[in-house]
Amino acid sequence: MVERIEEIEAEAKAAIDAAGSASDLEEARVRYLGRKAELTGILRGIADLPPDQRGPVGSTGNKVRKALESLIESKVDGLKNAELEKSLAEDRIDVTLPGSPARAVGHIHPITRTRRMIEDVMIGLGYQVMEGPEVEHDYYNFTALNHPEGHPARMLQDTFYVEDDEHVEEVLLRTHTSPMQVRAMEVNRPPLFMIVPGKTYRRDSDATHSPMFHQVEGLAVGEGITLADLKGTLLAMLREIFGPDRQIRMRPHFFPFTEPSVEFDVSCFRCGGSGALEDGSRCGLCKGIGWIELGGAGMVDPNVFGFVAEAGYDPDSVTGFAFGFGIERIAMLRHGVGDLRLFFDNDVRMLEQFS
Ligand code: PHE
Repeated sequence: MVERIEEIEAEAKAAIDAAGSASDLEEARVRYLGRKAELTGILRGIADLPPDQRGPVGSTGNKVRKALESLIESKVDGLKNAELEKSLAEDRIDVTLPGSPARAVGHIHPITRTRRMIEDVMIGLGYQVMEGPEVEHDYYNFTALNHPEGHPARMLQDTFYVEDDEHVEEVLLRTHTSPMQVRAMEVNRPPLFMIVPGKTYRRDSDATHSPMFHQVEGLAVGEGITLADLKGTLLAMLREIFGPDRQIRMRPHFFPFTEPSVEFDVSCFRCGGSGALEDGSRCGLCKGIGWIELGGAGMVDPNVFGFVAEAGYDPDSVTGFAFGFGIERIAMLRHGVGDLRLFFDNDVRMLEQFS
């Protein structure tokens, strides 16, 4: 009988070893350790054996049963691990695939949106879009734009200079996009119609000024261009941006590089230019004035053409106008944003509103 138990043990061990899945193993367990298994029967019948056999059969039988049980247990763990490994390998999730449903892709920044809108309008009017360096030479930012030595705009409180001990006030962060007027004329013969959107820098910071801000420069040069063309161009552009009913006005001003120079305003799009709302109260957007100040402009000063005469800009044969304004200001007006710094705080609750 003990021999038979040892045979069963060998057989069962082989079956357990061969089991390739949890269900194979369960089958082996039922066959060798289940209620109807031979070993179970032997152990159950010990009482019926002759007394001298009861001891050896009982101890061998129980030992084998325990051995088989623990063998099965450890095999179960092994199989579970193998099955897990297999399903991990087969059902691998590619975490680089877009989720389902795909997450929203984010938003174009309101300043970029506004810039693109302005570009579209000006491309429609036949202008080309150019970009220029943000780190600029004093020559392009000031000198070639007819800033006499000692002009207040050159003073340190307005300008960020990039300098070392040897080079003082030669290189700077451009304080406006106007330096591109000269750069563009150096390499393009007239007629020239271009706009330059881009970042500009000034030592200035409050709710309506940021040390970094964006401007759009416009330049039109050719034969017979007049102030009336400037006014018509600004009117067309601002009607596209603020609505077809807008009016514009130009007020005398001073810029070193334009002559005459103006500041231009657009009629208020909240009160329609009356300065008062329907209920008779004062319009808060234009502060009751009816006009909203937007930027500077003027006829290109002949002295500026003097710096690019070699490129074909003879002040006796060409005239031109230039204008410049802030992109943030346009975005603030169009979207009713009260504090310019909100554009650069990167608070998604703010940015998500521009979808
Ligand atoms: N560059 C001027 C500024 O930043 C604006 C301007 C541009 C004025 C072009 C006239 C012509 O204030």
